[in-house]
Amino acid sequence: MLKIAVLASGGGTNLQAILDEIEANNLNCSVEVVISDSPAAYALTRAKNRSIPVAVVEKSAYPTRKAYDTELVRILSGYGVELVVLAGFMRLLSSVMLDAFPMKILNIHPSLLPSFPGLNVQKQAIEYGVKFSGCTVHFVDEGLDSGPILLQATVPLLEGDTPEALASRILVEEHRIYPEAIRLIAEKMVEVEGRRVTIKTEQKG
Ligand code: GRF
Repeated sequence: MLKIAVLASGGGTNLQAILDEIEANNLNCSVEVVISDSPAAYALTRAKNRSIPVAVVEKSAYPTRKAYDTELVRILSGYGVELVVLAGFMRLLSSVMLDAFPMKILNIHPSLLPSFPGLNVQKQAIEYGVKFSGCTVHFVDEGLDSGPILLQATVPLLEGDTPEALASRILVEEHRIYPEAIRLIAEKMVEVEGRRVTIKTEQKG
């Protein structure tokens, strides 16, 4: 069973979607630990409700990004984590994490990358006037929301859309494709070659 960790800074609805799919036996993996940079993150409560260990690693306690990431690696290795799932984790990772988990870190982003990386992307999509936005699950590399793309889902923009309304419609799709992306990896159906990610139709033996 694939051992995963979820890193979240906020509400943790993506964490919840993953936990629900595991509970429904649709996802053959176990969340070994949930880590947050914020003690107030509701994601921690969601984890505790399922008796999943939590860790809070606050930015202020570490002088550099690398020192911070060294602590993340220590915790993740202690739990034998094989896949790191970023779900609204509001920190960029350094080479310390990327080297410890090469192509084993996923992120979800609420736009159709490579359009609108970064923050406040629903507002940016509305102001730009795109007709479709959506969400992207990608592997994490050293750039900002720039790693190889595993899954995407589209969401149409509506007349009079607000960033909040668009965000909540995108979240519905996030909650669908993030567990699906993890399932594909757990079932060894994903191959990455450079930027191209291939999803195999047959399960590896
Ligand atoms: C999601 O929109 C995700 O795409 C972005 O942060 C938000 C996290 O939401 N990276 P939640 O904490 O999973 O509810």
